[in-house]
Amino acid sequence: MFDKKIRPRRLRISENMRSLVRETNLSVKDFVYPIFVVPGENVREEISSMPNCFHLSVDNAVELAKKISDLGIPAVEIFGLPEYKDEIGSSAWDMKSPVQRAISEIKKSVPELLIVGDVCLCQYTSHGHCGKLCGNYVDNDETLKLLQKVALSQAEAGADIIAPSDMMDGRIFAIRNILDENNFSNVVIMSYAVKYASAFYGPFRDAADSAPQFGDRKQYQMDFANVREAMKEVELDLSEGADIIMVKPAMAYLDVVSKVREKINNPVAVYNVSGEYAMVKAAAKNNWIDEKRIVLESLTAMKRAGADIIITYHAVDAANWLN
Ligand code: PBG
Repeated sequence: MFDKKIRPRRLRISENMRSLVRETNLSVKDFVYPIFVVPGENVREEISSMPNCFHLSVDNAVELAKKISDLGIPAVEIFGLPEYKDEIGSSAWDMKSPVQRAISEIKKSVPELLIVGDVCLCQYTSHGHCGKLCGNYVDNDETLKLLQKVALSQAEAGADIIAPSDMMDGRIFAIRNILDENNFSNVVIMSYAVKYASAFYGPFRDAADSAPQFGDRKQYQMDFANVREAMKEVELDLSEGADIIMVKPAMAYLDVVSKVREKINNPVAVYNVSGEYAMVKAAAKNNWIDEKRIVLESLTAMKRAGADIIITYHAVDAANWLN
């Protein structure tokens, strides 16, 4: 039966009407923009599989950070390529490494911009795994000690938010403890709590030179078929002291974002990863899609699913479109 008094189309009649009843509003304030820092000076090289993303030396990263802040984007996440790699990834906590220098230089030049430090070892180890090896197995508890050093070095450099992406068990507890013992109790932990072993990280691993030299990451990152396990990871990380919970990747995992959002009262972040970005950029380059509309639709969907924070390589473009 069609009840002619009820017509949903009434509320879609004009842009102003639609905006009056819009349930989700994307904002530049939702974004975190990832940047890749490298050794050297005056380096600015485009990453081939991630158009319009660059390898930047610290001086150029500082310049970019100013622009990001001027656009109203509240935070950047710093990834780095080190000067040297070894078995345990010791350049990850070297205060002279590009990441630590970028954090402290950006903090000096743009103090209000929040800085997220990615805590992991895969960019820094010679074997490309996210921790210390024991044979071919990543030793969980030995890795925790190294992750503590990385987190502490980033906090000392001036990071506001520490974001562990390694997927070792117990790392939130370990990192919270080392931060608190060193008077960094106000440094926030944003846990990559629900991080799947995903093919969508492909371009990032080229960009960060962090592909594993043997095997894959399936013994520590999650099986993409699982969602109950995601809830277990979230519960554990909250009990260990995580402030913000992240789900990664984003687009193929919005069901997970929505479940996490319903279950917890902490902020939820999504990471719209390199492979998702690369697919959009490639299709847009071919004029197969309308990039602006696809990006704003996708980012809005992430927010609609329940994300409060969206880490995305599209942040600068999206900010320009939204402003
Ligand atoms: C480090 C790390 C990765 C990403 C963020 N931190 C790669 C990985 O786990 O292999 C992926 C980000 C992206 O694809 O954009 N462990």
